[in-house]
Amino acid sequence: MQNINIKDLSEYVGQQITLKGWVYNKRASGKIKFVVLRDGTGYLQCVYFKGNVSPEVFELADKLGQESSIEVTGMIKDEKRAPGGFEMDGTDLKIISESHDYPITPKDHGIEFLMDNRHLWLRSSKQVAILRIRHRIIKAIRDFFDGKGFILMDAPILTPSAVEGTSTLFETEYFDLGKAYLTQSGQLYAEAGAMALGKVYTFGPTFRAEKSKTRRHLTEFWMVEPEVAFADLNDNMDLAEEFLEFIVQSVIKDMADELKILERNTELLKNVKRPLPRISYDEAVEILKKNGIDFQWGNDLGGTDETVISNQFDRPVMVHRYPSEVKAFYMKRDPQNEKLALAVDVLAPEGYGEIIGGSQREDNLDFLLERIKEHNLPIEAFEWYLDLRKYGSVPHSGFGLGLERTVSWICGLDHLREAIPFPRLIYRKTP
Ligand code: 4AD
Ligand code: MG
Repeated sequence: MQNINIKDLSEYVGQQITLKGWVYNKRASGKIKFVVLRDGTGYLQCVYFKGNVSPEVFELADKLGQESSIEVTGMIKDEKRAPGGFEMDGTDLKIISESHDYPITPKDHGIEFLMDNRHLWLRSSKQVAILRIRHRIIKAIRDFFDGKGFILMDAPILTPSAVEGTSTLFETEYFDLGKAYLTQSGQLYAEAGAMALGKVYTFGPTFRAEKSKTRRHLTEFWMVEPEVAFADLNDNMDLAEEFLEFIVQSVIKDMADELKILERNTELLKNVKRPLPRISYDEAVEILKKNGIDFQWGNDLGGTDETVISNQFDRPVMVHRYPSEVKAFYMKRDPQNEKLALAVDVLAPEGYGEIIGGSQREDNLDFLLERIKEHNLPIEAFEWYLDLRKYGSVPHSGFGLGLERTVSWICGLDHLREAIPFPRLIYRKTP
């Protein structure tokens, strides 16, 4: 039998149907009992009039504990005032499995309690809305690249070396072969893929043993990384802005109910359209100085710096050409100025900070060798990567978008921990 979902109720107005789900809420007033059912796709108020149902069913409606799983039967009616726009005139009610003393009640709970009960907290309306939006964003990401002829190519999780600096590696013993590391980024493998397929993207979990205990850092997060052969920094920025527009506009179009549950003000999100402003790192430093920030040229931008810069714009801003000293070894130097890397970071508005980091890659074998030495990286581990520069090297570029940073920004969350089902943080690995 095909179960009916609450989100499809418009097709069933005037019909007698049965739905399955969980008790979200209930209340009674004299001869009427109200049971709010949730099924993961929406909420439905079921109304039981004393005269319309058997005494057993009427009694049962009162006994239901929050989160009991139930089956309700009745007539679907239009009801403009009800959440979702429909109501059920109930005729029957069956318990599938009882629930008593559900730990998460409508009252306020502390964040640590909620995090300890994350497996149950996921059932709350805000969390369901976030997970649904996360899913829509993932779909937009895949639709975007698939629609442009990119090939999804999975990168390994266990790797022999660092990509984004050695200080944030999770390591593990790997049989007789010494240590293996959880990947920080699929990029180097995506570069090999781009040389094989032209345009690829990797999309998977990545890991950083971040010592930082901030609202913007997870130790395990999902990253999508496009990589394109025969593309320079400008092409990379063109791709990034089109990509962001596509994601945000897809969510606005399809997820209005969820954004409403999250009380997300979507005015600024609506602005996420091409062209996005592009400023150089030098211009970013000027903005910081004008805003009274004592910033030293050559430093990386910190969280507060990013907020000050992005506050000058009504949509995400791309900052390009950072000092090469603060950027990764694989980034190509700017031929106009050797001190700069052909890098780009995209900063989200409203203080959400960096959501995309990318660059044009160093495609010259000798320069790349120098960089690997400068960064004290083990050359043996990069032999294969250097081969990409030996055999038909081409200009190429790519970037990485952090999924949770994007979910957090679009949903208007104040911490990344709610943007992923089971967050891994420096101080938390359960549930
Ligand atoms: O800027 P990052 O470190 O860039 C790379 O890893 C490149 N290899 C990407 C590439 O060019 N293919 O990370 C990219 C994005 C950041 O902009 C941010 O959105 C996210 O990944 N990110 C994190 N998200 C959550 N927790 C963390 N600890 C993150 N570190 C990076
Ligand atoms: Mg970065």
